[in-house]
Amino acid sequence: MKAVYPGSFDPPTNGHLDIITRASKLTDNLIVAVLNNPSKKPMFTVDEKIEMLKELTKDIPNVKVASFSGLLVDFCKQNDCKIIIRGLRALTDFEYEFQIALTNKTMDKDIETLFMPTDTQNLWLSSSVVKEIATFGGKYDAMVPKIVKDRLEEKVNKGEC
Ligand code: PNS
Repeated sequence: MKAVYPGSFDPPTNGHLDIITRASKLTDNLIVAVLNNPSKKPMFTVDEKIEMLKELTKDIPNVKVASFSGLLVDFCKQNDCKIIIRGLRALTDFEYEFQIALTNKTMDKDIETLFMPTDTQNLWLSSSVVKEIATFGGKYDAMVPKIVKDRLEEKVNKGEC
């Protein structure tokens, strides 16, 4: 089975990495798909995100990292993939995730979304929270891998955020 794990990954967190690792064990091939949406004003460029994700997944042979623009269902079709994986944290994620999943299903009935519950230690973790803590000099070592922390610090020190 081939699956896509899409997201903004701005930046990738331990929560993302946990889902990638677990999903890679259930799938033959997993494509981590970074959304290219400049209108969202991300902190990291798509290339930076891809670089980080490739480094983080370099020891998982069935994981490939790519980017996509436009509709996720089109990316799935182009890659001959019928399964979308999404992580679910607290119940608050549910409505948003349900909306995306049903919208995608309405556009392409053959594509299924599978939800994976996050690990309990990542229940409240989000990229936005990590960025906010980093910007104001707080401690977030337990939330992101070391290489992401280094990149975030670089951005903060350069005043790029
Ligand atoms: O990490 P995120 O920001 O929660 O990921 C959201 C993502 C990338 C999965 C979603 O915004 C998406 O698939 N965008 C692509 C555009 C699209 O297909 N929209 C229709 C479904 S809402």
